[in-house]
Amino acid sequence: MGKPLDAPLGSNSLSVRDNRTGKSYSIPIVDNSISATDFKAMSAPRAPGEREENETEKGLRVSDKGFLNTAVLRSEITFIDGDAGVLRYRGYPIEQLALESSHLETAYLLIYGSLPTKSQFQVFQDEIMHHSVIHADAEQFFRSFRYDAHPMAILTSALAYLGSYYSQANPSLQGQNLFTKGDKASLAVMDKQIYRLIGKATTLAAMAYRVRQGREFVTPPTGLSYTGSFLYQMDYLGQENYVPNPVLEKALDVLFLLHADHELNASATTVLQTSSSLVDPFSAIAAGCASLYGPLHGGANEAVIRMLISIGKPENVPAFIEAVKKREKVLSGFGHRVYKTSDPRSFIVRKTADEVFKITGKDELLETAMALHDAAMKDEYFIKRKLAPNVDFWSGLIYRAMGFPNDFFPVLFAVPRVVGWLAHWRQMMLQTGGVKIWRPRQIYVGETKRDYVPVDERIAVVGPKKTPRRWNTLGFQSGRILRRSRASTQSCEFRRVAGAIVSR
Ligand code: SDX
Repeated sequence: MGKPLDAPLGSNSLSVRDNRTGKSYSIPIVDNSISATDFKAMSAPRAPGEREENETEKGLRVSDKGFLNTAVLRSEITFIDGDAGVLRYRGYPIEQLALESSHLETAYLLIYGSLPTKSQFQVFQDEIMHHSVIHADAEQFFRSFRYDAHPMAILTSALAYLGSYYSQANPSLQGQNLFTKGDKASLAVMDKQIYRLIGKATTLAAMAYRVRQGREFVTPPTGLSYTGSFLYQMDYLGQENYVPNPVLEKALDVLFLLHADHELNASATTVLQTSSSLVDPFSAIAAGCASLYGPLHGGANEAVIRMLISIGKPENVPAFIEAVKKREKVLSGFGHRVYKTSDPRSFIVRKTADEVFKITGKDELLETAMALHDAAMKDEYFIKRKLAPNVDFWSGLIYRAMGFPNDFFPVLFAVPRVVGWLAHWRQMMLQTGGVKIWRPRQIYVGETKRDYVPVDERIAVVGPKKTPRRWNTLGFQSGRILRRSRASTQSCEFRRVAGAIVSR
């Protein structure tokens, strides 16, 4: 650092001259990246009239709003080439895994780094299915939600709540390096939390679904696959020898696999940001679930269906496209921070949809979705902005055809994504050099130093408004909300259980 500009041309380095001071710096390039902290050495005296808050004399900061081009860690888990539309889990192309593997086998690959042998997979699967059962007390936790609570709010809360059952796996109680030691005992505790979180993710999701139907919870069955067990817990209503429809089970398993990981998306970054304080994994995964809940991220599949319903018939598509171009509407399910040609997952989802529609019948929104897709793909506005369908554009149609309620779609994203979040969590806990807390810098542009003003001398600045109160006839605020069980969506499940009653 701070060496004269003697780096030979062609060397793997940047030569930087700070024109404020005339000093030159040689910054090494490693794996096509430079270290932001190398710029901290580039300090300069504060210019006349420059704000002290710029901290100029303390060295340069690197600004990257929204993390458009900032690498915060080194990872071996998932590789995406957004221009080529490539997605690989631990080097294996997503297309091959979707065709040959299963969600649980892919989970093993993502978390431990290699495809399991038969016996390794058997142990992994048995552990996860064993840990899919939830403590009976948790039922009252689920029963405390309103009938119309969003299932992602229930799932997010349930993940954090469930973490309170495992004090022996809580670094806040057992010591902060509980998961970073990397020794046999520490790895065993880590594996058990991984089994618990993957196993319980489906059970919590099914409980979030059943509680809103006003239905009893279903104990995870034995003898079914991971995805089969999930569908069983969702839809079992006492039928003799009930087994989920195998075609729908396979389709959902492919969708789970496709959603398992996607490198440092918003929710995985949230999990890592939270994990960097060495909190327990249930709390970190709950934070990731909260991030995924948003309509810009995992909530997009739900937003796509709401968008298609608002458009209605295919003949309304041109008007909708015009509204998007006027920025009056957003084309949910299109666009991606990384994919600038196509999201490889969307092709596999589209193909899977045809398999599902053979069982459930085509969704009347499919025609509208296809018309919208074709119109957007041909329109200069979207082509110029490199907007193509992402994984969420078609997946909602499958979930809807399978009879899941719209607001349950992000839950179907969160359940498989627990695997990716855990893969990144484990990688961070075991990374060389240990875990450093993530604490980004800021560029402070607020008020400079000012003195306190006594209340009588203040001038009102626009502030928060009073919220309107609802008063009942007795003149006081009525806050009791009557709890009603939601009208059964029996007809919705019908499409999932159609043809599912087969003898064991
Ligand atoms: C997922 O990160 C991941 O990997 C996520 C994910 C995963 O597996 O974890 O792949 C899953 O979250 C997929 C994305 C689901 N979200 C949506 O479908 C919501 C709609 N999409 C957009 O909100 C948006 O495309 C994002 C959020 C996905 C990406 O936003 P960026 O990268 O910040 O891009 P941007 O907002 O800066 O947009 C660039 C331009 C802008 O136009 P200009 O202002 O430059 O003229 O494209 C426009 C945007 O207005 N644009 C859109 C659009 N998406 C971007 N215009 C209309 N409709 C859209 N959907």
